[in-house]
Parts: sequence; C-alpha cells; structure tokens
Amino acid sequence: MSAVRRYLVAAGLVIIIISVWQRWGADTWSPLATPTKSHIQPIDKDFFWRTVTHQYPVTSFRPLPTAAVDVLPHVQAKFGPESADQKQTRLTRRDTIKRAFSRSWKAYKEHAWLRDEVKPITGKPVDTFGGWGATLVDSLDTLWIMGFREEFSLAVQAVSNNISFRTTEAETINVFETTIRFLGGLLGAYDLSGDTRLLSKAQDVGDMLYKAFDTPNHLPVTRWDIHAAGRGETQTAHGNTLLAELGSLSMEFSRLSIVTGNPKYYDAVQHISELLAASQMKTKVPGLWPIVVDAAREEFDLGSDYGLGGMSDSTYEYLPKMAALLGQKTGIYADMYLRSMETSNRHLLFRPMTPKGDDILFPGSLHASRSNNQVSTTLDPSAGHLTCFVGGMLAVGGQIMSNKTHVELADKVTKGCIWAYSSFGRGVMPETMSLTPCPSRSGCVWSDSSWHLAALSAQSASKEDDGEKLVEEQRLPPSFTKIPDARYILRPEAVESIFVMYRVTGDPAWQDAAWRMWNAIDELTHTELANTAVWNVNPKHGEEPGKADSMESFWLGETLKYLYLVFSEPELVSLDDWVFNTEAHPFRRLKK
Ligand SMILES: *[C@@H]1O[C@H](CO)[C@@H](O)[C@H](O)[C@H]1NC(C)=O
Ligand SMILES: *[C@@H]1O[C@H](CO)[C@@H](O)[C@H](O)[C@H]1NC(C)=O
Repeated sequence: MSAVRRYLVAAGLVIIIISVWQRWGADTWSPLATPTKSHIQPIDKDFFWRTVTHQYPVTSFRPLPTAAVDVLPHVQAKFGPESADQKQTRLTRRDTIKRAFSRSWKAYKEHAWLRDEVKPITGKPVDTFGGWGATLVDSLDTLWIMGFREEFSLAVQAVSNNISFRTTEAETINVFETTIRFLGGLLGAYDLSGDTRLLSKAQDVGDMLYKAFDTPNHLPVTRWDIHAAGRGETQTAHGNTLLAELGSLSMEFSRLSIVTGNPKYYDAVQHISELLAASQMKTKVPGLWPIVVDAAREEFDLGSDYGLGGMSDSTYEYLPKMAALLGQKTGIYADMYLRSMETSNRHLLFRPMTPKGDDILFPGSLHASRSNNQVSTTLDPSAGHLTCFVGGMLAVGGQIMSNKTHVELADKVTKGCIWAYSSFGRGVMPETMSLTPCPSRSGCVWSDSSWHLAALSAQSASKEDDGEKLVEEQRLPPSFTKIPDARYILRPEAVESIFVMYRVTGDPAWQDAAWRMWNAIDELTHTELANTAVWNVNPKHGEEPGKADSMESFWLGETLKYLYLVFSEPELVSLDDWVFNTEAHPFRRLKK
C-alpha cells in the first residue's frame, strides 16, 4: 500500500467514524455541553443602522447589571428516578414530536427558504414579518435543542450570509414582533451555541430597532416606518400604543446589553419599565395598566380596558422573567409583578361553572369607568388562547418569589386551558371564548338554565329568547356562552404552561395532558407538508374545520419546542439556568 493510499484509507475511516457518530450522536449528545467559540466575527462598523444619525441621542446610560443581586430559589422540582417503562413512553413521545418538527422544517426549507413562512397546504412562501426569514430565525434554537446539528449549522450559515437587516420590503415594522422573534431568536440560539455569527446578527437587529427609540422622550415608535427613519425624518412615539408592544421589549434588549457589554439597549428598556413602575398604582385599576397607553405623553391611564390577554399579556409575563433574568428578588420587576398579581388574583381570575364542578380558573378582563371620582368595574368572563400563558407566568413567578399561592393559582389556570381543550369534540380550544362564571371562586352547582341565560346575555339577546336553542345551534359546549373567534392558529400558550408546570412540580400527569393535546392538535391541523392553522375548531357535524394554509413561525419556534421539552430530561434547558422570552427563546440567567 502506498503512503498516499494509506493516508486515504485512514482519512476515509475518520470520515466514516465521524458520520456514524453524528448519525446516532443526535440522541446521546448533550446540546448544552460546550458552546463553540469558533467563527469569531467582528461587527460591521459600516452596517447602515450603526451609521445612521440619531436626532435625540442618549448621552448617559443606566448602569448595566453584570451579575445577579440575589440567589433565587429553585424554579424546577427535584425529579425522582424514572422507571424503564416511563422512560420508554417518554422517549417515544419525544421522538414523535421531533419527527413532526422535521416534517415542518423540511417543508419550510424546500419551499420557503429565507422567507418568513411556508404555506403548509400550497407550499407557497410568504413574508409576514419583514421578509427576514422569521421561520428560519425562530427555529434556530429548536434545531439546537433537538440535536439537529447539521441543520443548525446550515441555518446559521444562511442567517449569517443571506439575511440582512439593512432594509425591508414591508412598509412598516412591528417593533415588538421583530424584537421577540428575530432579536429573541438570535439571542437564544447564541446563548445555547456560543456561535458569534448569531451575536453579530443580533446586534444588527438591535441597532436597527434602537433607531425606533430615537424620539423626543426616547420611547419607541412601536408600529414603525423604518424607511422614514432611515431617511432621517423626525419621529415621535404614538399616542395609542398597545401595552404589550411597549412593555415587552425588556428581556431581549437587556440580554443584548449583557452579552455585548453595551449598556444602551438595557438603558432604553429600563426607561420604559421605570415609567410603568411609577404609574402602576395610579391607574383606574391599581396594579394593572390599561391595554392602550399614550407613549407620546407618557400617559398610562387612558383606556378603560384591563386584562392579561392579547395586547397586554407579555408586559406582565416579562415582570417575573426580568427578575429571573437579572437575578433580582427585589426591585422594580419583583414589585410590579407582585402588585399586578395581587390585583389579578382579586379582580380578574374567575371560576367557570362546569358540569363536573372543576376547580379551575380563567383570567377574565375588566372594564373600568370613572364617574364622580368613583371607579366602577365590570368583569368580562372571557378568555382566549393567548391568556393560557398565565399559568406558566404564575408558576415561574411563584417559585422565584417564594409564593405558594401563585403556584396553586398557576395549577388551576393551566388546568382551565386543559379543560377548555377537552370541552371540544376535536380536543382543541378556540382563539377566544366567553364562559359562565360562578358567583364565587369557592364554586357553584351546574345549572342548564343559568348557562342558557348567560349565553343570551353574552350575545346581547333578549332574556325571553330561547337560550337552549341558541347554545344548540352554535354547538357551544357546556359553560361556553360565545365563541367570537373559533380559529386555532397553532399557538403554544397551553403547552407552554403545561411545560412549566411539569418542570415546577415534576408530576408526570402534565406530560400526559401535553400528549393528549398534541394528538388533538396534530389530528386537527395535519397537512401533507406540515401543520396548518384552522378556521373553526368547532365545526358542524360532518363539516370540516377549514384549513387556513398558514403556519406562523411560532409553530416551530414555540409549540413544538415546548412539547419536545415536556418529553425531555428535565435538565435540558433547566428553568434554574434559563428563562424563556415570549417567543420561547431561552436566555441564560445572570448568576451571583
Ligand atoms: C447566500 O450567500 C452566499 C454567500 O454570499 C451565496 O453564495 C449564496 O448564493 C446565497 N444563497 C442564497 C439562497 O441567496
Ligand atoms: C402571595 O400572593 C398572594 C396573591 O398575590 C398574596 O395575597 C399573598 O400575600 C402572597 N403571600 C406571601 C407570603 O407573600
């Protein structure tokens, strides 16, 4: 054998060994072992958004926290040993989720690579969030967590080489969505992998978004004309700003400051948080902020509607999560969280009347009005899929603030969503719904006539009308009085809270609940290519739910990630070391 051939054989053997190791390495490999520090890439000083002039530059920054102030209590339970049977079941379930992810990822890769989304029926690409590859960026950390290393590496390369945040075809940019999906996605994948190409891309997004804060009062324009900003036109924050779009930029901007060492991003969001803290007890419902606020005049008591659902949700979610991220058991985030939950517990959480008397809760919403200096409020016993995050928030918050009551409430709110899923023939709850409330949280006895009357009232029908006929015609399950939006759009919030409850309690019953949910969701939404949003989770007998040909990036970024984690070892992305942003991107928590 010549030296060259010997060399070739040796090289061939190495390649075979590496590829075999890679093939089954995916299952045994620990994704959190050693972050790779290769591919060091300095940031590009000439990137447009770093060179653009700021008209209202900030000249001094709040000091950036670099270490935790407190050692926070454990979030996760101590898990006992698992039997061989339990392990077998868990791994079978986990692999089913992994295959589902693979299928949807492949559809995206083949039909919509570098675009925002793939349409899961027609396979057409579509840009919905600026055209920067929302599904690609949202999926990065899921690929890493599931152990798809080759796919991860391809995806990072594509993000690094082929996605530019210089500009967009979109007319305006939603600053909140861009923050949670793109900035959050890049930071989460960077925190897990240590690949600095992701960090420099995150900094590009951060510097682009930082320009949205270039207003007289340094509050951001949340629905942002990025092109006008690029031309140097003057901009001001808006009079009507959704609470969630203002209050839930804090985690991503803070984490970006921490990993880059540049305090300006943290400073920008800390300013918002300080204003929220100062106004929290001065609103019509002290402890909560209205869904709409005036960011131009910094007037936080404009609107009359209060709640934890869509349009305000993640502002509340980020309060305990900021305390976890920064390692602060006291301070404005802890204070705001405790005050908001005190008020929510007293005024928002309600128990629905159900045939079996289930001990469950839902966060409703409040309408407040002021007359003669007296505020009166009315509870709207409605909820939506988006409010299903509340269980997870209360469980994390209760653990780090050492408040058992919060964890008990978390249990009941999460079980509320499980009950809502199981109330429908197809096993999936709708986007929004109204329920028949019990007069008190200690419960109430089921009554058909109370339900029928509540349905008439929820639909503003006359009391004389036939409530029984109404619920029958609309196929409303018991206790449901109205379904304003019957879609299911592949949202994650119910499995998200189940995942957190599982990690916080260690109780395998939560895994079973997640498994039932998964089967119902897949059955309802499965397409030849992937999974799709549906128009109606409650179709007439013999009719179809109506497939919407839409798969938002959170299906791969959140829903399938949380399901996978429910069936993984509890140390995988432990909540004692990581905290998830509202798009399920894990950020490493500061430690003392
Ligand atoms: C991505 O960027 C690389 C490097 O610039 C280039 O060779 C490749 O053609 C690009 N791919 C796509 C799909 O644009
Ligand atoms: C726990 O939270 C509840 C609800 O906000 C509150 O009423 C209670 O005082 C708290 N308990 C402790 C020990 O802080």
